[in-house]
Amino acid sequence: MGTKINEIDEIKLELKRDLRDSFSSDSVDQLNTKYLGKQGKINTLFKTLPVKTDPKIGRQINELKNLIQEMLSAKLTETMGDEQHSIDVTIPGTEIPRGSLHLVTQAIEEIETIFLRLGFVRRRYPEVETDWYYAEGLNIPKEHPARDDQETFYVGDNTVLTAHTSNGQLREMELKKSPPIKMINIGKTYRRQIDASHTPMFHQFEGLVIDKEINITNLLGVTEYFAKSYFGQDRRTRLRPHHFQFTEPSFEIDVTCGVCQGTGVIHKIPCKVCKSGWLELGGAGMVHPNVLRNGGLNPDECTGFAFGWGVERVLMMKSNLPDLRLIYSDDIRFLKQF
Ligand code: DAH
Repeated sequence: MGTKINEIDEIKLELKRDLRDSFSSDSVDQLNTKYLGKQGKINTLFKTLPVKTDPKIGRQINELKNLIQEMLSAKLTETMGDEQHSIDVTIPGTEIPRGSLHLVTQAIEEIETIFLRLGFVRRRYPEVETDWYYAEGLNIPKEHPARDDQETFYVGDNTVLTAHTSNGQLREMELKKSPPIKMINIGKTYRRQIDASHTPMFHQFEGLVIDKEINITNLLGVTEYFAKSYFGQDRRTRLRPHHFQFTEPSFEIDVTCGVCQGTGVIHKIPCKVCKSGWLELGGAGMVHPNVLRNGGLNPDECTGFAFGWGVERVLMMKSNLPDLRLIYSDDIRFLKQF
């Protein structure tokens, strides 16, 4: 009797192993034949065991048969499901949309490359800055009206979010300790402002060149080189007198408008983009002796020029964008054009 029961148990064990090793509906079919087919294990049991004399055995074989049927049909459902979900490697794949660098990042890289070609070093100086580097050391005393020029975010009595990248001038002088200095500081700047051409956060690039005999013609040369490289060879630049506390003399730099080619008119109608043929690039000038001194340099031994221009501004001028805020929108139709 014991051996007969063992035979049933053995079949159960064997079935378990078989099920574990079968991964397709075909192999489940084969198991079906092996266990439940005409010559299968169950029929063999019925034939070989004393079913007639011991009805208990007959019942046990029937129970085993039911169990095998259940397990095989469960396995069949499982393998068929897998087969439906399995990957057909021959089907052409669905393309995952590719991202790209943001236009401001692209512009920064382009600007950086142009200045690196001229031998400038790329710097990044703090965006959260003390009053000294941000204003006082740049010849803008406390209570001076020039403090009102920029809508500064104060984060403490003595600490600001930089409203310009000019703080990099003093930091670079301190770092290098002596000329020659030739750096481009590109960073984020912050002002309390928002309209079509202003956002609370934007980027500036600040150039600083200091050496023994640096003069305005050097500034002009660098300005022309930048304008022609970034905007196009047909562009020209000009200086307009201006005032900044940290430069003397100071200028605004203009670039010819790309839409009307600097003429101010298109088909005898005034150019809508510039009105005058010129677009304002930004401020520049010869570094003020007080600033050189505050940076630890001797104004009798060296001179320098500096400029601070807006990344988004040059990007808008180049692409004729009507609204700066578009750059920071998440409208993929707009961003895709670049
Ligand atoms: N810091 C000025 C601003 O944000 C721009 C500027 C003007 C920077 C003249 C300079 C400069 O380096 O020489 O408005």
